Amino acid sequence: MAIANYDEKIPNNVDLGEDRRLKRALESWQPNFINWWKQMGPTLPTEDVYLRTAVNVGRDGWAQFGHVAMEEYRWGIFLAERDRDRKIAFGAHKGEEAWQQVPGEYRSDLQRLIVIQGDTEPASVEQQRNLGLTAPSLYDLRNLFQVNVEEGRHLWAMVYLLHAYFGREGREEADELLLRNSGSSDSPRILGAFNEETPDWLSFFMFTYFTDRDGKYQLGTLKESAFDPLSRTCEFMLKEESHHMFVGTTGIDRVVRRSCEVMAEHDTFDIAQYGAIPLAIIQKYLNFHYSVSLDLFGSEISTNAANYFTTGLKGRWAEEAQGDDHLLGSSVVEIEHLTEGGQITSREVSALTALNHTLRNEYIADCQNGVTRWNRVLEEFGVDFRLSLPATSFNRKVGIFSAIETTPNGQIISAEAFEAAKENYLPSDGDKAFVRSLMRPVYETGKIASWIAPPIKGINSQPFDYEYVHLA
Ligand SMILES: [Fe+2]
Ligand SMILES: [Fe+2]
Repeated sequence: MAIANYDEKIPNNVDLGEDRRLKRALESWQPNFINWWKQMGPTLPTEDVYLRTAVNVGRDGWAQFGHVAMEEYRWGIFLAERDRDRKIAFGAHKGEEAWQQVPGEYRSDLQRLIVIQGDTEPASVEQQRNLGLTAPSLYDLRNLFQVNVEEGRHLWAMVYLLHAYFGREGREEADELLLRNSGSSDSPRILGAFNEETPDWLSFFMFTYFTDRDGKYQLGTLKESAFDPLSRTCEFMLKEESHHMFVGTTGIDRVVRRSCEVMAEHDTFDIAQYGAIPLAIIQKYLNFHYSVSLDLFGSEISTNAANYFTTGLKGRWAEEAQGDDHLLGSSVVEIEHLTEGGQITSREVSALTALNHTLRNEYIADCQNGVTRWNRVLEEFGVDFRLSLPATSFNRKVGIFSAIETTPNGQIISAEAFEAAKENYLPSDGDKAFVRSLMRPVYETGKIASWIAPPIKGINSQPFDYEYVHLA
């Protein structure tokens, strides 16, 4: 394995020093990145933040903790260790050596996949840029910035691939990744969920739980790619991604816990007046973020997905653990089907074309784990309410269900009926205004906002009242 080089302008474990052209190209992209970070990154001025920096990919010590000024964060290029014997695990090239270069015939598809993944990384930083102004504690503020710098590093990871393997077109795409902006009317980010705003911390926790988890599954499929540098890049990104989901899981857990405490104290569900978030509002936020995240999996039936699999560009989740022939030539699966009469039934389709659907099912099962965990808090407090994932058909803009409206329970209703009942399913303007009204910064060490419980433990064995962030 190449040793991580920290002395260079761009820390890396890809022997960047050996390739002068590549190094120069990336070094000329670097100031554009820093500019983008200054303009589109966190708006709260800070002196330094207690951050984890990736310094190597080995089992021990890939993460180093310390207070750093965010602009001086060492965004680096780190690929998981290369397995010299790695063989392609699926599709038409199964059993062949993994590719160290991009095969000409797959060049544009691979480039597209990398650009789409790359586009989501800076998008989330943009979506979250104002959240630092209203953090519920310094611990949470630190976690936000950790997520932000790592999404920045994920952008670096994709830009490295574009520069190193896709020539001039790749460099142009890398430039454009900094030109599109979340929510922009002329040049929005590529995927819908990444143009939604993240205006408050409840949204942030939902985003890191549901939308970063979509990222986990997308990265998981790219980690299986026959294109080895992409596989190794994604493998390392997945390690960082798990912290983002931790922020979401524990964040929602703490919001639910605080709501329960206040409900117990005042013996009422009506806790808005006490500065806590009613469970019904938490459920509506969940409904929104879950449904837009399901859209990220694309159409249930997709010949692109089938082609990506057959050609080896993208595998399934945990491809090697799948107990089949890894070709799926004649396999079939059941998927939901909408009849002419507007009824939801199911039908059999080729497993190859249904790969988006299969991946989405893995994701749904994973999402349920958090809901189960949050419901345990409700149970612990003896609260007669349970959170739940809405039906897959609810509030969809992509795939077969985009043609209909259903209730969160999956009952089909007319567009008019949906419109009329929408406030009961999704956050209303009033709900959003209420949640926003709670968003007041708490920057004193050891203190926390009224609407969320403190974490059970701090970061890297530090206490909750540690000085995680020094404000400017
Ligand atoms: Fe990411
Ligand atoms: Fe993430």
